[in-house]
Amino acid sequence: MTIKQLKSVFSEELSSIYPKTEIDTFFYITVEEYLNFKRIDTVLKAGEEIEKETEQIILSLLDRLKKEEPIQYIIGKTEFYGLPFNVNSNTLIPRPETEELVQWIIEESSSFGKEIKILDIGTGSGCIPISLKVNLPSAKVSTIDISSEAIQIAKQNALINNVEIEFINSDILQNKSLPDNYDIIVSNPPYVRELEKEEIKNNVLLNEPHLALFVENDNPLIFYDKISILASKHLNKGGILFFEINQYLGKETSQLVKNNGFNTIHLRKDLFGNDRMIKATL
Ligand SMILES: C[S@@+](CC[C@H](N)C(=O)[O-])C[C@H]1O[C@@H](n2cnc3c(N)ncnc32)[C@H](O)[C@@H]1O
Repeated sequence: MTIKQLKSVFSEELSSIYPKTEIDTFFYITVEEYLNFKRIDTVLKAGEEIEKETEQIILSLLDRLKKEEPIQYIIGKTEFYGLPFNVNSNTLIPRPETEELVQWIIEESSSFGKEIKILDIGTGSGCIPISLKVNLPSAKVSTIDISSEAIQIAKQNALINNVEIEFINSDILQNKSLPDNYDIIVSNPPYVRELEKEEIKNNVLLNEPHLALFVENDNPLIFYDKISILASKHLNKGGILFFEINQYLGKETSQLVKNNGFNTIHLRKDLFGNDRMIKATL
């Protein structure tokens, strides 16, 4: 099969499941991963034959895409904030909204003018603490997750990105205190209500870890409540709490954080125009 034929096979096999732009993205990621082809090569070398062995690998990837498995899990990696990250079904696939949160934290960190301590709660792939450490090399960065499997991947990612992070395997909902005091505490905790499951696409619902995504309908802010209470006791003077939040619960989350002792709350929208991030100070 040639590259051109492969592109047609992707369209034919996937067009009933995914929009064209997404199919194109899958195709370009695939040829880059297995043939080391840049996008322009798919035009310049459109008639080139793919080796049989590679063709088989790509066709089995196509089968998995047809079952709505995320391509990041199939190839085992993704990019976040311009950095490489391994992912598997124990780690959430990092989202672009979270890159915006990281950007905000990096901007605000310059105001400290000293070596700062950062704690991230709910590490997943380690995307938040690792991208912060890469961009704020003098910061001391720690991170907590209940999932030892996620921490295993996050540790690999710290190695790949050549940074030192402290990893703590624990359940934040059971913690009576935090291990230290910090200048910045950040969390992107589980925040999707069970009632929002209908809105969630199959590729997420059937593949990403429910432990990372869902909270009970009747207590959707459980993590924000616990973490803001802990943060109110463990932030250094001038410290900042950052959250990624459920877009439908911006007002409620802000109010809760306020009730837990934070004076100034900034609610920020993401690139898609949804309430998505909070910055809070005591
Ligand atoms: C929404 S994911 C965020 C992952 C990553 N920070 C990101 O932005 O892609 C939430 C993370 O919180 C972790 N988590 C869930 N319950 C937890 C708990 N009780 N204590 C600590 N971590 C928890 C999950 O394992 C998951 O990695």
